Amino acid sequence: MLEAFGLDPDVLHLNHGSFGVAPVVVRQAAAAWRERAERNPHRFNRVEVAGLVATAREHAAGFLGIDPSRAAWVRNVSEGVSAILGSLELHPGDELVTSTHGYGAVRKALGHHAARAGARIIEAAYPVGAGDDLIVSAYAAACSRRTRLVIVDRITSPTATVVPVAAVAAAAAQVGAPVLVDAAHAPGQLRDDIPALGADHWIGNLHKWAYTPRGSAILWSRPGAEVTPTVLSWQLGEGYAASFDYPGTWDYAGWLTAPDGLAYWQALGGWDAVSRLADLVADGQKRLAAALAVTLEGLPATPAPAMRLVPLPEGVLTSPDQVDPCYELLSRRRVEVAPIHFDGTGYLRIAAAPYNTPDDYDRLADIVRELDW
Ligand SMILES: Cc1ncc(COP(=O)(O)O)c(C=O)c1O
Repeated sequence: MLEAFGLDPDVLHLNHGSFGVAPVVVRQAAAAWRERAERNPHRFNRVEVAGLVATAREHAAGFLGIDPSRAAWVRNVSEGVSAILGSLELHPGDELVTSTHGYGAVRKALGHHAARAGARIIEAAYPVGAGDDLIVSAYAAACSRRTRLVIVDRITSPTATVVPVAAVAAAAAQVGAPVLVDAAHAPGQLRDDIPALGADHWIGNLHKWAYTPRGSAILWSRPGAEVTPTVLSWQLGEGYAASFDYPGTWDYAGWLTAPDGLAYWQALGGWDAVSRLADLVADGQKRLAAALAVTLEGLPATPAPAMRLVPLPEGVLTSPDQVDPCYELLSRRRVEVAPIHFDGTGYLRIAAAPYNTPDDYDRLADIVRELDW
């Protein structure tokens, strides 16, 4: 499978979640679209691309189980979040709610918009291993009549926790606060009924766990919600989905190849394959923890299907400034894994993708044990 995913076999790849990887056949399909566009760029861009992009969007919407007219192409979660924040009218004293487990880049976008408007960011704080009730009550406590947007992660990045977003959305609704679900890791990993989550907006990357080319993500907004694309171009004013379909002249090959990535996800076994990955990563988590002599108690009660935390031995990675050196240490040993610092504790966030095998986690354990931290 390493070959099918075109990965360097000399590297131990245990972090599929951060950037994903498109299988070789999907990359080849993207290259074919690129070639087709280059053979007659004028006609391709002037006449053909709009219909092709709309068709690919319909396909992606079908995969996600949403109405294609409420599905908008964006390049990534950052772009979708930017569109939602850019569409808000914020005033001094307004509040934007996130959590202590939120993604750093999204937090920066919130900070930018809050600072411009004199608004504040309120963080729902909950510890690693918090149960659903505690998570929901942390969000409920952070929401008020001043809340203009709640951003809730479906799967948290630093802690690989599945968050009960429907219950959070219900709590936010008590004070009339709109909700955006940051579902960066959800497509292909969680089988959600997106409109039934009760959120106003949802944004998910297809290029992580659904094997499409990098730069393919879908923003969904409930019927009636108005959102302005981040890039304003020819199709502005043509309705929610179409206004996102054409962000000017660029390489549309990735979006056009999304159906190939989704077909690959299905051919690998769909949701059955996801549950095999969950078993693989749970086993890997146990192997690594045993080798490092660390406990798995107090970790997320509902972890992401294919991503898990393993605590590092005491004294390792105890401050945020040690994350990058720790990454370098591992990467120089040809291991790609996510070092995490959260609430004073160091962890490795491991993943299982179709190209991983049980002995990958033993190799990781061997290397981690040998490291001179
Ligand atoms: C929870 C979460 N939100 C947002 C992002 C940002 O995604 P992107 O770089 O695709 O914009 C990530 C990326 O891993 C993430 O994990």
